[in-house]
Amino acid sequence: MIFENLLVKTTNNITTITINRPTKLNALNRATIKELRSAFEQADTDKNTKVILITGSGEKAFVAGADIQEFANFSTEEGSKLAAEGQTLLFDFIANLSTPVIAAVNGFALGGGLELAMAAHFRIASDNAKMGLPEVSLGVIPGYGGTQRLPQLVGKGRAMEMIMTAGMIDAQKALEYGLVNHVTSQEELLSFAETIAQKIMKNSPVAIASAIKAINANFEDSVNGFHTEIKEFGSCFGTADFKEGTSAFLEKRKAAFPGV
Ligand code: COA
Repeated sequence: MIFENLLVKTTNNITTITINRPTKLNALNRATIKELRSAFEQADTDKNTKVILITGSGEKAFVAGADIQEFANFSTEEGSKLAAEGQTLLFDFIANLSTPVIAAVNGFALGGGLELAMAAHFRIASDNAKMGLPEVSLGVIPGYGGTQRLPQLVGKGRAMEMIMTAGMIDAQKALEYGLVNHVTSQEELLSFAETIAQKIMKNSPVAIASAIKAINANFEDSVNGFHTEIKEFGSCFGTADFKEGTSAFLEKRKAAFPGV
């Protein structure tokens, strides 16, 4: 599929989705959000894709936020709709995807950009990255899950401070906060992400999908995560991946997971 605002390529079972509006610092307009949904959906159903990387084009920005130009004249109803549709269409969709998603944060990740990175399963950053939720400086609050996912990742007090001050933290601070798992140079960011992806790909994709569900259950209201874990644990026993994984261990060979 050809996208206007994205570059998508699949190499060695890794699909890299690059947001490609560098002159607008990859700001998320409505068209880009729709394209991202299609690209993630396509990658998730593609048998050749085992890990998805999301990054931004250029050396300056991952994503500098939702496109301010687009929502500057919105009414209350239009604002609610923007957040509700964005969350369902993209941010929750990514968070609940069965295929692992790693955000490679290569510069500014602000507002919707940081929310996009936080919807990914985990994040790595280049040492020039800057992250923040500056929405209150525009008279609005984060609307793509930021008020929920930031405290989940960094704790309530730090999230309160970041959101209230509308400030940016650098990559090192983000590492200290647990917002990103690793920091590399900008040149090494994607190859480092690919190294982690290779490690993930050695394991059962079916078990990984179950693990994502169980971990996410910890953060869902009215869901008992321990019950989800029991259900997902049990369901693994009926899979070809489990048969292969345990047989390979007992036969002292490398597992070749069929992925079912
Ligand atoms: N929405 C729309 N356009 C954006 C944007 C956004 N969130 N972020 C950057 N851009 C555009 C700028 O308007 C500018 O476009 P122009 O060249 O047509 O005028 C271009 O991207 C480059 O940005 P610029 O501000 O000139 O770069 P800078 O290096 O001086 O500053 C930032 C970089 C990230 C600090 C600054 O762009 C910024 O504060 N962006 C908004 C961040 C924000 O509040 N995001 C949350 C939105 S909810």
